[in-house]
Amino acid sequence: MSGTTAAQRFYGRWALLYDLVARHTPGVGGLRERTASLLALEPGDTVVDFGTGTGANLTYLRERVGPEGTVIGVDFTREVLDRARESVEREGWENVHLLRGDVTRPPLGIEPDAICSSFVVGMLAEPGTEVERWIDALAPGGRIALCNAARSRRWYGPVVNAPFRGLVLVSTPGPRRRGFERSATELLDERIAEAHGTLAERCDSVVEEDHAWGIVRISAGTL
Ligand SMILES: C[S@@+](CC[C@H](N)C(=O)[O-])C[C@H]1O[C@@H](n2cnc3c(N)ncnc32)[C@H](O)[C@@H]1O
Repeated sequence: MSGTTAAQRFYGRWALLYDLVARHTPGVGGLRERTASLLALEPGDTVVDFGTGTGANLTYLRERVGPEGTVIGVDFTREVLDRARESVEREGWENVHLLRGDVTRPPLGIEPDAICSSFVVGMLAEPGTEVERWIDALAPGGRIALCNAARSRRWYGPVVNAPFRGLVLVSTPGPRRRGFERSATELLDERIAEAHGTLAERCDSVVEEDHAWGIVRISAGTL
């Protein structure tokens, strides 16, 4: 891969801390479990986790496809993939593969039965286009599930959105400029809405849920 983006530098620097947050934040395991369960995976299926990071979803996907299935985690940041690889080796999962690549140009060459992506589309410049591309890559009847955080639309949203904005501020790669906090949160909202909207338009049997006081959205559907 040529060039290094702000996201790669950010996740490269914070890979260890991100791994702890991704695995141990209270409630996050339940969100990963729910996202994986909406994929209705069966033993032997092939599932791709786009933007796998340190691999926090892999255990939930691997347990569903079993030893006869295949799990592929794709990410463009070497340091997070190194952490994911450590956990794959520790678990001895021979059917979990990690690929370094850009999820906007998926390096696959196969038609997966399912695609999972959590906390990634908010970082993509054209999330609707990318979700279209992912759906086009699915095998016939394939499933896709997205899990993302954006501002809560519930009536008590203003209370939970204030700390959420702080979280967006510290976890968004790139230079901090005047107005950054506000624009980063608005941009995130727009991207999440676009990605989940595309999934809803393109798929059948769509499930849309929100969790964690409305801050976490999970959508899933079938091609
Ligand atoms: C917030 S982390 C989420 C990681 C993981 N999905 C999780 O749920 O913990 C976002 C990840 O997306 C990756 N990422 C962002 N844009 C990407 C791109 N265009 N191609 C590949 N990976 C990307 C980053 O390197 C980072 O590991």
